[in-house]
Amino acid sequence: MSESGGAHKLWGGRFAGGPSPLLEAINRSIGVDFRLWPHDVRLSKAWAVALGHAGVLTLDESRELERGLDVVARQIADGAQPVASDEDVHTMIDRLLHDAVGSVASRLHTGRSRNDQVATATRLWTIDACGKVDVALRGVQQVLLARAEELRDALMPAYTHLQRAQPVSVAHWLLSHFWPLERDRRRLQAAARGASELPLGSGAIAGSAFPVSRLLLKESLGFHAVARNSIDAVGDRDFVAEAIFAMTMAGTHLSRLAEDLILFGSSEFGFVRFGDGFSTGSSMMPQKRNPDALELARGSAARLLGDLVSMLGALKGLPTGYNKDLQDDKRALFDAVDTMLLVAPAVAGTVDELRFDTARMEAALSSSMMATDLADYLVRKGATFRESHGAVGSLVRQAEERGIEMTALPPEAFAAAHPLFGDDARDALGARASVAHREAIGGTGPKAVAEQIEAARATLAPVIHETPAHGNQLIANVVAV
Ligand code: ARG
Repeated sequence: MSESGGAHKLWGGRFAGGPSPLLEAINRSIGVDFRLWPHDVRLSKAWAVALGHAGVLTLDESRELERGLDVVARQIADGAQPVASDEDVHTMIDRLLHDAVGSVASRLHTGRSRNDQVATATRLWTIDACGKVDVALRGVQQVLLARAEELRDALMPAYTHLQRAQPVSVAHWLLSHFWPLERDRRRLQAAARGASELPLGSGAIAGSAFPVSRLLLKESLGFHAVARNSIDAVGDRDFVAEAIFAMTMAGTHLSRLAEDLILFGSSEFGFVRFGDGFSTGSSMMPQKRNPDALELARGSAARLLGDLVSMLGALKGLPTGYNKDLQDDKRALFDAVDTMLLVAPAVAGTVDELRFDTARMEAALSSSMMATDLADYLVRKGATFRESHGAVGSLVRQAEERGIEMTALPPEAFAAAHPLFGDDARDALGARASVAHREAIGGTGPKAVAEQIEAARATLAPVIHETPAHGNQLIANVVAV
């Protein structure tokens, strides 16, 4: 309870009556923003120091506030909970600070507003969160790479329009899901960098009327830049939109991987079997094994998109400065981060325990999938590609009409289709021969895939530590580039 014994409020002097319980209910954000507390404590300590430097507080007052904020942090870490009257996390911390140090607590809010305060805390939180999501996505990449190393010799059909197109190495398909996540990690890095601009010292909108050093604040809080315009600083949530976009894109990539695997795990494909750890049974059908983690990953991508749309939607109509609509930025941001931190490890776990039926994958490679290779064969013999395309097309039609593989067509059929077909024409219809030809960088040939695996390994080589500092580490890397 606050010393006053009543509700602890950061405003209210100009009101004769109290707020309606309905206003309190719609206005209260502590249920969402409570998790900002470590950052709010940290920035408040930095603010106390800055006020001390500026001569607004005595050294003793500034130290007392710092000490009090440490007490508050310990209390919350030990389980102190909000009370009904705590409008938001800033109010709660202010209340606990009053309880800890008494009236000097009232000096902390000098020259600052919750507008620059919440923008600063949310930025600090976002930088940390980008680091955590980065680690989670890296975890998916590691599993994809490990499985690719294991399956570099196995072949499978690659699909366009979900129709069998050409043979590829299974490693090549697995790594086709690795690189999008690498791009997502770069986007997260950029989002963390975007978040690293200090709003504190902008006050409610016009800047702080006290001579606080914002450069000092920037340094002590680890920001990379100081926001240049106080009006912009309190209303800018670009960094939230950017972080949610990076996560939505990553969620979309995980959803596509999930969709591939759900298809490949169906009895009709039978390319993969799901393990026990990440699939579920049916309450009615005893035979069922359902890839729930993957389906939830796919469904979560829709929610992430909803978070992005709600954030952008909130921003687009806002007049200049802080508006209360912005309070909901945290709902969208926290949901996106929580979702990613569940989905990415679940997808990694699912992929880790997949069993690949490589015999079934190879059995799905019909000879017509090598039609392009047969046309390339003619090109190597001197025919034009257009001419070759027509000749091979006629062989495909004949095989289809007779219900046989192209390899089963008689030599006369080949000779009739094009005079340049020799005895070795049928070799061009082998899946391994097809794959072996594709050694250009980024192709599915064995050497090209080995190089790709090396490149993927090199990408993951930098050791990262899952510490709160990782978000800032990410940004340091961006700046170094
Ligand atoms: N809980 C608020 C938010 O998250 C804090 C800022 C309140 N500012 C204000 N002027 N009422 O946006």
